[in-house]
Amino acid sequence: MTEISLTATETPAAFPIPTGVFAETVTEVQHYTDRLFRFRITRPASFRFRSGEFVMIGLPNAEKPVYRAYSIASPSWDEEIEFYSIKVPDGPLTEHLQKIREGDTVLMRKKPTGTLVHDALLPGKRVYMFSTGTGIAPFASLIRDPETYEKFDEVILTHTCREIEELTYGENLVRELLEDPLVGEMAAGRLRHYATVTREAYHQTGRITDLMRSGKLFEDLGVPPITPETDRGMICGSMAMLHDTKQALEEFGLVEGSNNKPASFVVERAFVD
Ligand code: A2P
Repeated sequence: MTEISLTATETPAAFPIPTGVFAETVTEVQHYTDRLFRFRITRPASFRFRSGEFVMIGLPNAEKPVYRAYSIASPSWDEEIEFYSIKVPDGPLTEHLQKIREGDTVLMRKKPTGTLVHDALLPGKRVYMFSTGTGIAPFASLIRDPETYEKFDEVILTHTCREIEELTYGENLVRELLEDPLVGEMAAGRLRHYATVTREAYHQTGRITDLMRSGKLFEDLGVPPITPETDRGMICGSMAMLHDTKQALEEFGLVEGSNNKPASFVVERAFVD
């Protein structure tokens, strides 16, 4: 891996912007914990994406920059692009990315892609968005997209983290969304946020897979158990979480869909190593 040690703030003329890549300016950075942060960059006028998609991002700190897939956390109508990231000690990208400041440059490949999109899901009454950790990012985009509320009567966002402080991004997101003049009215009374932690005492604890299998998730929400007739699912988290949540949904009779063949649930791997 070609990478030299410059801080994220240095953009040496020796490394020109590669072709097929946008060079965008950081507009905001917010750190939540020593493992989590969010940042926003300017949006190129020609950049179009579907809410829920991901894009490859990197830093201009090497001749061959390291790129990683990041879900776009902002909705497709937003003027800026938002990302929510983990900080991996010695991670080839995040080691540098976590140091970015307002005014720095971030590279973004031009082509977004992904399966956590409306096109891959059949319409239904209720959509569940199952996330762990930074896997909430694509749903931060989708729950701010009016199409979500056109397609589904109820939107249930589940977010499970190890510790309570890791829930902050999702809590702020939902609160601010409900105050938003464009989407707030649409989401009111229809967006439910179900947050749990697994390694601390909290009013809701446990892995989402266990809460589904025991039925506690449905009891807490006051909804019937998942059925393929009414319910749809979207999953984003670690590889293990994706595997186990997919299995749980299949036990409820849901079928995995794709862009070419929409069905009742979709899965996305949550970036960054
Ligand atoms: P747990 O604390 O029981 O491992 P991670 O940071 O490892 O990605 O975990 C984020 C959250 O996802 C944690 O609350 C973790 O629970 C949970 N989790 C990890 N693996 C799975 C899995 N296979 N199925 C469901 N939840 C999982």
